[in-house]
Amino acid sequence: MASEQPLAAVTCTAPVNIAVIKYWGKRDEELVLPINSSLSVTLHQDQLKTTTTAVISKDFTEDRIWLNGREEDVGQPRLQACLREIRRLARKRRNAWDGDPLPSSLSCKVHVASVNNFPTAAGLASSAAGYACLAYTLARVYGVESDLSEVARRGSGSACRSLYGGFVEWQMGEQTDGKDSIARQVAPESHWPELRVLILVVSAEKKLTGSTVGMRASVETSALLRFRAESVVPTRMAEMTRCIQERDFPGFAQLTMKDSNQFHATCLDTFPPISYLNAVSWRIIHLVHRFNAHHGDTKVAYTFDAGPNAVIFTLDDTVAEFVAAVRHSFPPGSNGDAFLKGLQVRPAPLSAELQAALAMEPTTPGGVKYIIATQVGPGPQILDNPSAHLLGPDGLPKPAA
Ligand code: DP6
Repeated sequence: MASEQPLAAVTCTAPVNIAVIKYWGKRDEELVLPINSSLSVTLHQDQLKTTTTAVISKDFTEDRIWLNGREEDVGQPRLQACLREIRRLARKRRNAWDGDPLPSSLSCKVHVASVNNFPTAAGLASSAAGYACLAYTLARVYGVESDLSEVARRGSGSACRSLYGGFVEWQMGEQTDGKDSIARQVAPESHWPELRVLILVVSAEKKLTGSTVGMRASVETSALLRFRAESVVPTRMAEMTRCIQERDFPGFAQLTMKDSNQFHATCLDTFPPISYLNAVSWRIIHLVHRFNAHHGDTKVAYTFDAGPNAVIFTLDDTVAEFVAAVRHSFPPGSNGDAFLKGLQVRPAPLSAELQAALAMEPTTPGGVKYIIATQVGPGPQILDNPSAHLLGPDGLPKPAA
């Protein structure tokens, strides 16, 4: 038990992001430097977020971490890299000052607790929100004010994009030390208020090939990936930025789908091949294309990361009709009432014309487990209320954490 009050306790939250120009492949594994730039949309924390508390105290004898209430190995290399990096930045800042206003915090050990407000079992990417939140919270507890891309990136590449709200690019950079491989906001969350995001949770199973291992194999064996990084992504980054700036939904949607498809093509081009999409994912792809064809306009887009869950982009005037199409093609299992979570979507009828155009027999119930309806959201936040802390004054998880 601690005999003194902690030196500092900070609690922050951070969002999940979904890439519309995908990051796949590292040129430096140690520094987590990518072979191409990427661009993502930050999702709203009302639906998906990580909350992290960091406490430092002279009484702590070792660094410790609890994830979703369970103590985990603090020696894990990525976690260690984040801790080392934040302490290096804190030391640098202290040395730059004349005085020494943080005399003891640097020598202190830290206790960290982190929870997600969404089920980890859903197979939704939680590492980006998790490491962004860790970097952001540690920075506040150790008094670091510099760019945190490097700290978050060391945990998980895509995490640096969760440091900002709205639309965010991760510039690959050119330097070998990675100092110019940083995340930057392209447009704030208020920029495109009509944009909506639906997460179609397809499978709760743990994926066969993790991102780190998968992208290493792709870098080593896929000629298509090299071509993509060198000759496709630079043009797409500029085009995607334009679509976002001009709120050009059809342009944004088509490029999002093409880039997701090319990412999965590089997975198939990897040897031995990697496959993240399953039969339900493919049915969702067909559903989106038939829905768009019926309207004669690109009204909906899909994107898939390293797993079978689909993330759908659409505008608020189309959400209700698309949800009706999903409900028809993928009838809910026993959770009819809880099929749609998050933002309210008013029930809408499915016209006979659209139903015919979808040309799909409904699957057996439960192919899509549930939908989370959300929107674009802000970046990390500090929670001022001490009752938000997940760790008590003794530095141990509060019972509810
Ligand atoms: C398909 O950021 O999870 O989601 O840097 O090895 O931790 P590591 O990989 P990670 O990869 C994300 C890959 C992706 C595309 C993306 O988010 O850009």
